Amino acid sequence: MKVILTYGTFDLFHVGHVRLLERLSKLGDKLIVGLSSDEFNKGKGKSSFFSYEERAEILSSCKFVDLVIPEHTWEQKAADIKKYNVDVFAMGDDWEGRFDSLKSLCDVVYLPRTKSISTSEIKTLIAELKKNDLDKVQKSLNDAIEIIKKLNYSE
Ligand code: CTP
Repeated sequence: MKVILTYGTFDLFHVGHVRLLERLSKLGDKLIVGLSSDEFNKGKGKSSFFSYEERAEILSSCKFVDLVIPEHTWEQKAADIKKYNVDVFAMGDDWEGRFDSLKSLCDVVYLPRTKSISTSEIKTLIAELKKNDLDKVQKSLNDAIEIIKKLNYSE
C-alpha cells in the first residue's frame, strides 16, 4: 500500500484542484489530504469562502481522495507522515523546495500547477463582477435622477 499525502486549503474547489488530486492519486494507492483548518488559515492571513466542514465535505466526495485530515500547524507534517506511514509527500510546484527537509522521512515531489486558474483569481473576478454590477446600478440611478429632475423642470 503506497500512501500519498498533500496539504492545502482547497477553497472554491476548481479544476486545478481536481487535476492535481487526480495526478497525486496515480502516484500510489491511498491519497490523504491535510485540509487547512479555518483557524490555521486565519494565522496565514487567509480566509476561505467555504468553512472547513464544507471544504472537507467537497474534498471527501472527490473520487481521487481517500481521507481528509485537518491541518492545524505548519509543524504537524512530520508527525502525520509517521502516523499514516506516508511514502510520498506531494505538493503543487508553487511550493517547490519548501518541504525538502521532509526528504529524510519520505519521498517529496512537487507537481506542476494547472495554468491560469486559482482560488485567489476566482475571488478577484467575483469581486470585480460585483463592482461592475454596482457601477451599473449607480449609473441607472443617476439616469433616473436626471429624468426626474428634467420632468420637474418641465412642469
Ligand atoms: N493547485 C494546482 N493548480 C492550480 C491551483 C492549485 O495544482 N491551478 C494546487 C496547489 O499547488 C496546491 C493545491 O492545489 O498544491 C491546493 O492549492 P490551494 O492553495 O488550496 O489552491 P489555489 O487555487 O492555489 O488557491 P490560492 O489562489 O488561494 O493560493
